[in-house]
Amino acid sequence: MNFYVLTLFPEMIRQCLSASITGRALEKGILQLDTVDIRDFSENKHNRVDDYPYGGGAGMVMAPGPVVRACRSIQGKIEIESQKVPRVIYLTPQGKVFDQTMAEELSKEENLIFLCGHYEGIDERALEMVVTDNVSIGDYVLTGGELPSMVMMDAISRLVPGVLNNETSAEFETFQDNLLEYPQYTRPEEFEGKKVPEVLLSGHHARIEDWRREQSLKRTRENRPDMLEKAALTEKDKKFLHT
Ligand code: ADE
Repeated sequence: MNFYVLTLFPEMIRQCLSASITGRALEKGILQLDTVDIRDFSENKHNRVDDYPYGGGAGMVMAPGPVVRACRSIQGKIEIESQKVPRVIYLTPQGKVFDQTMAEELSKEENLIFLCGHYEGIDERALEMVVTDNVSIGDYVLTGGELPSMVMMDAISRLVPGVLNNETSAEFETFQDNLLEYPQYTRPEEFEGKKVPEVLLSGHHARIEDWRREQSLKRTRENRPDMLEKAALTEKDKKFLHT
């Protein structure tokens, strides 16, 4: 998976993704990250990339020229290598809300370009010319698209084969079947007076499975009742939920 990020703050992206699991995947070459500084494509003698909005109003708008030139510099490179037009994702609170299903779909792409805006946004003409997907990471407004792009790259990366050590660990987890994950425990058996639930020490696999399923159902009912409507519930699950 090759990630390309068009941003005014390339070092922010590099620093974040070079840590931990994504960092190891970058070292191994399973992931590849290319950051492009949009400012490098300014043709202004002061390297300016923003300007006042037509029609007035607060804040500044990123000018179309540097954004389109920065994007084309990457698209050209990719198209020569892969013959496929890469998707260009613009991070914006006006976009479609990112979720696990979208992460799974995007993890199958070979190349992804993320476009991070700042200030009051990017000139609409540039967006019309280069963007294929408008994506939001949730109903709140951030100062720029960098954090949202990193959220997306993190969620997508762990679905790319070889990124997680244990390939099965992305398989049975939160959102897999519209249920939240059950609680996990490790040693010691007792910590500051709090004990690990007895059933987990029993070695009785069927009872452990039942307990975990019940914990998942309970958590989902408490924190995300909206998800229960989409979950594939067995008769046993329904009985538990009604008690
Ligand atoms: N840029 C600013 N806020 C955002 C959000 N919630 N999602 C994606 N991009 C953004």
